[in-house]
Amino acid sequence: MPPPTDVWDAGAGYEPYVGRWSRLVAREFVDWLSIPPGGAWLDIGCGTGALVSAILERGSPRQVVGVDPSAPFLSSARRQVTDARVEFRAGEAAHLRLPGCAFDAVVSGLVLNFTPDPEAALREMVRVARPGAIVAAYVWDYASEMQPIRRFWDAAIWVDERARALDEAVRFPICAPDALARVFAASGLERIDGCAMRNLVPAAPDGRLRMTARAFAIRASRR
Ligand SMILES: C[S@@+](CC[C@H](N)C(=O)[O-])C[C@H]1O[C@@H](n2cnc3c(N)ncnc32)[C@H](O)[C@@H]1O
Repeated sequence: MPPPTDVWDAGAGYEPYVGRWSRLVAREFVDWLSIPPGGAWLDIGCGTGALVSAILERGSPRQVVGVDPSAPFLSSARRQVTDARVEFRAGEAAHLRLPGCAFDAVVSGLVLNFTPDPEAALREMVRVARPGAIVAAYVWDYASEMQPIRRFWDAAIWVDERARALDEAVRFPICAPDALARVFAASGLERIDGCAMRNLVPAAPDGRLRMTARAFAIRASRR
């Protein structure tokens, strides 16, 4: 079976699939970070703008830059988020084409595992962060408590063992607290701290799909 590739070309499809969950987790993450009002934020892999929206709602930022390589996701984000403090730019985590030491908070939601080299992405996040800034990220707990996706793969593997190679829990070992902490530590960040964010997935009107979506978050300070 060829290695799976992740395709990001349908912003409208992303929203009813994972966007409705990623928006919940993004709010919790912004609250957890407690960045002082008036900060300049950078969101790497901003997608359709879930985390950017949460930053605007709860972080009282002066500026938010959202970067993503997907043109369709960026178009969707630009349609949904029209706040003048926000700028969306095309870009890749490991090559941001942004000045160094420019942001008070450099964040990334549900993205690190999709980057070809998470350590290179972290190095770039650190480069653009000001001394003392917060660098932080979160990823789904694919192996266990991101229940909708976990249930899907458990059923798929039960039907056909070959599905195991496609399971995000297998493909993305970085999606665990220890692995995240190792990548953060390797990039020279200090005061590394993590938490698990657990959200109840909104149920359909008929009550189906009451599951939780858990993500692991990590934050640290740039020296
Ligand atoms: C699961 S989505 C998360 C989007 C958004 N942050 C959210 O919380 O809803 C993953 C995003 O990572 C982006 N992405 C994939 N590879 C990337 C890379 N190498 N650098 C930056 N972003 C990347 C995709 O285009 C997509 O928008």
